[in-house]
Amino acid sequence: MNVQEIRHPLIRHKLGLMRRAEISTKNFRELAQEVAALLTYEATQDLAVESYTIDGWCGDVEVEKLSGKKITVVPILRAGLGMLDGVLSLIPSAKVSVIGLARNEETLEADTYLEKLVGDINQRMALIIDPMLATGGSMVATIEMLKKAGARDIRALVLVAAPEGIERVNRSHPDVCIYTASVDQRLNEQGYIIPGLGDAGDKIFGTK
Ligand code: URA
Repeated sequence: MNVQEIRHPLIRHKLGLMRRAEISTKNFRELAQEVAALLTYEATQDLAVESYTIDGWCGDVEVEKLSGKKITVVPILRAGLGMLDGVLSLIPSAKVSVIGLARNEETLEADTYLEKLVGDINQRMALIIDPMLATGGSMVATIEMLKKAGARDIRALVLVAAPEGIERVNRSHPDVCIYTASVDQRLNEQGYIIPGLGDAGDKIFGTK
């Protein structure tokens, strides 16, 4: 399985707070961004760096910088926006490609209503962000759009993943690694992750 459950103590602590039924919008929002930043740290461990020399306080000093491929962050609307600032806090110059998907109530599949990708996506690592990997339908649709546009290095960052969603993404796109704060138990009949976080979009935006 191409999934990494990041069991860092900070992530476990923050996710525990997010699972409280009575959490405020403010706290949920803050924690979602913080966990997103921690997942970003893990998902970018293998970024290439190159050395160069700068004029330091005591003379020349060799330092490093990111080299080669750059990054595009891909929030899936709307809940993915709740992780965007957290990712950008670590990668402030990343470009953002936005995907809007809505569930078609007849086909029950994801219909695309917005696809605004960076032009040079074939030269960038794409970090898809969506808090909840439930059935995997939106994630698979997004990966397919990105691949069609030329993206080759795609990674998915999700706060919580259901085994069903991981299985579906892995089956269709085994090359895409899923980074998650938790692999939860299962989906319920309504498609919610158990124990999950409830409706992440509503919690981030304060709607319901
Ligand atoms: N989307 C959510 O917001 N929560 C779930 O549990 C599943 C999908």
